[in-house]
Amino acid sequence: MNCPRLKDWLEERYDLKGIKRLAKGKLIPEHRWDFWYYTGGITLFLFIIQFVTGMLLAMYYVPHIDFAHKSIIEIVTKLNMGWFFRSLHHWGSQLAIVFLFIHLFGTLLTKAYRKPRELVWVTGFILLGLSIFFGLSGYLLLWDERAFAAVRVATGGAGAFPFIGWFIKAFLRGSMDVTGDTLLRFYAFHVAILPLITLGLVGLHLVLVQVHGMSVPLALEKEKRREIPFFPNVFYKDLAVWLVVLGVLATLATFFPPEIGVKADPLAPPPEDVKPEWYFLFLLQTLKLFPGSIMGLNGETIAILLVSGGILFFFLIPFFDRKSSRGEKSPLFTWIGVIYLLYFLTMTAVGYLS
Ligand code: HEM
Repeated sequence: MNCPRLKDWLEERYDLKGIKRLAKGKLIPEHRWDFWYYTGGITLFLFIIQFVTGMLLAMYYVPHIDFAHKSIIEIVTKLNMGWFFRSLHHWGSQLAIVFLFIHLFGTLLTKAYRKPRELVWVTGFILLGLSIFFGLSGYLLLWDERAFAAVRVATGGAGAFPFIGWFIKAFLRGSMDVTGDTLLRFYAFHVAILPLITLGLVGLHLVLVQVHGMSVPLALEKEKRREIPFFPNVFYKDLAVWLVVLGVLATLATFFPPEIGVKADPLAPPPEDVKPEWYFLFLLQTLKLFPGSIMGLNGETIAILLVSGGILFFFLIPFFDRKSSRGEKSPLFTWIGVIYLLYFLTMTAVGYLS
């Protein structure tokens, strides 16, 4: 029987040449700030690592308060290379959030969000929110005393949100306090609900990026510049950068495996120096700036409202910055971006050191 080669077989059925033409037709502008383009790709790569290592861990993890902590100890001590995959998953999550922030501030400062890319920004911003929730839900799965106390504080803080706070708190905890119900709920979020939504949104984000092509920073728009084909030129550069990131990740995972604390005991007092993950520190520090009561109103509620307003403004920035959408310079929004960045870095550093 004549057995055509796989390529011919596929070509007979699908328009492979069309896909090739599309890949070759994708052009990337070359300029002195084009290193920002790699940050989105690095984030994508780290997300792939998280999915793969997460799937491996999910085969052995038991989402029950009596077994969760023990199952992680067993992954680390009894499974072949289990400690390494757990460590990769831990450091992968940290680096993914670092690069998400770098990607966000890169697209902010180059004004890549401006018309017609508003929805690229919006989908990206939602992805950042989902990633932070990925972090919080994953943290509790360890079920040690630190994770337990941090999630209790975070979900309790959500309760201070006016009008709907009680609902958010109850929805997150699944009961009155952080219990086995919360663990099961966070597990469902972490391994099913969040991955599904994230996958769909990453797909949409990337489709939108393809539709619009890569932007050129506003300040460089009038300069003469070359455009290089994505395939194979930039594609190989992307792969090389991913290899470097993989090296950093594997080094961190090998030399700094994450600790496993004492198993959580809901009746025991919380450990003294509980700190949330670093990306929550700016929020915690901001809350500390406010007194308990301001003109008879709850200080925490006012702080949460102000922070939410700041985040909402940030989320909608492409719709406020009309000037850059018209191709005009908008230094005000560059300054707003710089202030957001400095505030985030300062508060995170203060929270870390205090
Ligand atoms: C799971 C998270 C994310 C992934 C996997 C991802 C991936 C990517 C990739 C591969 C690109 C094209 C190359 C590049 O510009 O680096 C891109 C572009 C872009 N992303 Fe993201 N991104 C994510 C989150 C975000 C966030 C948090 C924002 C900001 C709120 C954002 C805003 C943008 C914008 C505006 C562009 C267009 C850049 C341009 O045209 O110059 N993305 N993203």
